[in-house]
Amino acid sequence: MHDIKVIIRATEMQKHSDRMRGLGKTVAFVPTMGFLHKGHLSLIKEGRKLGDDLVVSIFVNPTQFSPEEDFESYPRNFDKDLKLLQKEGVDVIFSPNEDELYQDGFQTYVELKNLPNHLCGISRPIFFRGVATVVTKLFNIVRPHIAIFGQKDYQQLAIIRRMARDLNFNIKIVGFPTVREPDGLAMSSRNSYLTPEQRINALSLYKSLNQSKKLVESGIKDAKRIIDAAYALIKSYQDTAIDYIAICDPETLADMETIDRPVLMALAVSVGKTRLIDNMILNPE
Ligand code: PAF
Repeated sequence: MHDIKVIIRATEMQKHSDRMRGLGKTVAFVPTMGFLHKGHLSLIKEGRKLGDDLVVSIFVNPTQFSPEEDFESYPRNFDKDLKLLQKEGVDVIFSPNEDELYQDGFQTYVELKNLPNHLCGISRPIFFRGVATVVTKLFNIVRPHIAIFGQKDYQQLAIIRRMARDLNFNIKIVGFPTVREPDGLAMSSRNSYLTPEQRINALSLYKSLNQSKKLVESGIKDAKRIIDAAYALIKSYQDTAIDYIAICDPETLADMETIDRPVLMALAVSVGKTRLIDNMILNPE
């Protein structure tokens, strides 16, 4: 088995990265909240290709969950994750406990002005503040040259790219395509909450994106028509509650009315109590 180091202390992690940098090695980084699935593994395989030293963090970040969300029950399985990461040839797991990252008296947060005011940021008002804060901290601790994020969390990726530019992080942010189950459901740790029946209903997200893609390719330019058709499709599945369906500018995430260039279609739907997200770029050409 590959020799993997588990680091819990931030100072030890910094020292490790400084040593690697001193040796002229490229440090690649994949931040996760654990409970790894094939989607994470695709990011990790990419990290393995891009870096000499590959660090994966496992930290369920409390500041990105609001009190009514699933922080306590969020799925965790460190032993299974460790085995998977060993198999992938990961060099370091950075797995701090909560006190290591948020010490008593913690009061410094990173907030973006505009990008969080769309899509998921509307119904999860503290989420992106928590993500931007923890990713900033992880960047300062892991000191990577390259960091890899999934495109399934499109808004998160856009926010991290913007933040890295705004705060002069000298880190290359790589976005990696969404990994799907054979029937199209986007991989997510939260899929583990779904009952077999809900699992069928969860496919409505992907089906609505595919339907929209076809409608756009057939020449329909009116965003509202596409969104209405997606609403109808998703509502025809049981146990689904739509949080939002949006067609927006892929850079600013502002809503668009006319599809006359590539747009982002993004949606969040609860199936039972499980909130799922997905997205696709729709191209009229
Ligand atoms: O995408 C996630 O798993 C988390 O939001 C991240 C980037 C690890 C920050 O906690």
